[in-house]
Amino acid sequence: MKTLLQNPASIITVDTKEKNFKRGNELSEIGQLSDHSIVIEDDLIKDIIPNSKTDKNNFDKIIDVEGKTVLPGLVECHTHTAFAGSRADEFRQKLNGVGYEEITKKGGGINTTVSAVRSSSFEELVNIIKPRIDHFIAQGITTLEIKSGYGLDFENERKLQQVINFLNEIYPIDIIPTFLGAHTFPKEFEDNHSGYVDEIINKMIPHFSKQKLAEFCDAFCEATAFSADEIDKIFSVARENGFKLKLHTEQFNSIGGLDIALKHNAVSVDHLEVINDEDIPKLSKSDTVAVLLPGVSFFLNHKYAPARELIEQNAIVALATDYNPGSSHISSLSLIMSLAVLKMKMTIEETISAVTINSAKAVCREQSVGSIEIGKKADFAVFDTKDYADIVYSIGRKLNCITIKGGKVIFQN
Ligand code: NIG
Ligand code: FE
Repeated sequence: MKTLLQNPASIITVDTKEKNFKRGNELSEIGQLSDHSIVIEDDLIKDIIPNSKTDKNNFDKIIDVEGKTVLPGLVECHTHTAFAGSRADEFRQKLNGVGYEEITKKGGGINTTVSAVRSSSFEELVNIIKPRIDHFIAQGITTLEIKSGYGLDFENERKLQQVINFLNEIYPIDIIPTFLGAHTFPKEFEDNHSGYVDEIINKMIPHFSKQKLAEFCDAFCEATAFSADEIDKIFSVARENGFKLKLHTEQFNSIGGLDIALKHNAVSVDHLEVINDEDIPKLSKSDTVAVLLPGVSFFLNHKYAPARELIEQNAIVALATDYNPGSSHISSLSLIMSLAVLKMKMTIEETISAVTINSAKAVCREQSVGSIEIGKKADFAVFDTKDYADIVYSIGRKLNCITIKGGKVIFQN
């Protein structure tokens, strides 16, 4: 099957010259082509050719994108989409001045959502989550990471991961499951932290690995969650069991999470709002992706991560929504790009690299997606504008009009 993605106003290739990620200055090189069309064979990018050389008779299918801008399919690399219930009451409390950490200390926060997930069936969860995935697809997202982390016991963490795997089977996009049993301590282990760490290490990790329920193991290193020593134990066992690693760290307090993540060669460290200046070079020299989540800072009225310093010191920076019910009830990736330019002083070009090739690296998919290069998956987000800047400039307006996954149109409006 040969398809032609014909005559866009511009193609933003995010070309990496086969390096497949971008560090520092490279984030601003997004490779813009005009007067070109994209040749798709089956589910792969076969060629990018000048319009003068296209012969329509050679194709089984033509997708006309005249006047539009084509980007690589967007990669959303950090979400907690698998939740039930609502935390609108806690949102109200926050508006009245009660802090996010204060709500957590009073037994709310993540544990509020844990109760809602525990009382939802597999089918109920699937039905709650489906419209959220539809919304991601409508934005041009073709690869989506989803964490567990609201079950916090063996049965319910397994249920969440089974839901995520089921959704991956029924949706045309790639949904990547992450096990986040170490999100916080569930109520029944409030006074027995080592008991819960043992549950994770001895029961959950070995079983979920054997059942191939998740690809990544994530955790939350924070004063109200897990200590660096506890993360160290969990990560050692997770690695032995074949998991790749991610860590929520340096969100409110810097308590040693970054060092542990780097020691274990984590694929990404996420948050970094309070990363120490002297820790930036360590991270920047590593191959670990710095996943920044400005939606959280916006939603909680908290400090923003030092994106400029990270990029200037050569880090591999990605962006994500962190879509969750408590700290970032935001599922718009273009809003995140807008916050990144307005609040973290990233450039528009840097935000494009951060939601394509670098977010692909944050989920270990950089060899196959994240840029428009010959041989990669034919995943595209098509925007109804001639100027890619509009994607970031038109705040609150969805400009994606076609989403293509593996050469097939999976969304159009
Ligand atoms: O990424 N930091 C920890 N976890 C989520 C918040 C989850 C929640 O509040 O439900 C985050 O911000
Ligand atoms: Fe998160």
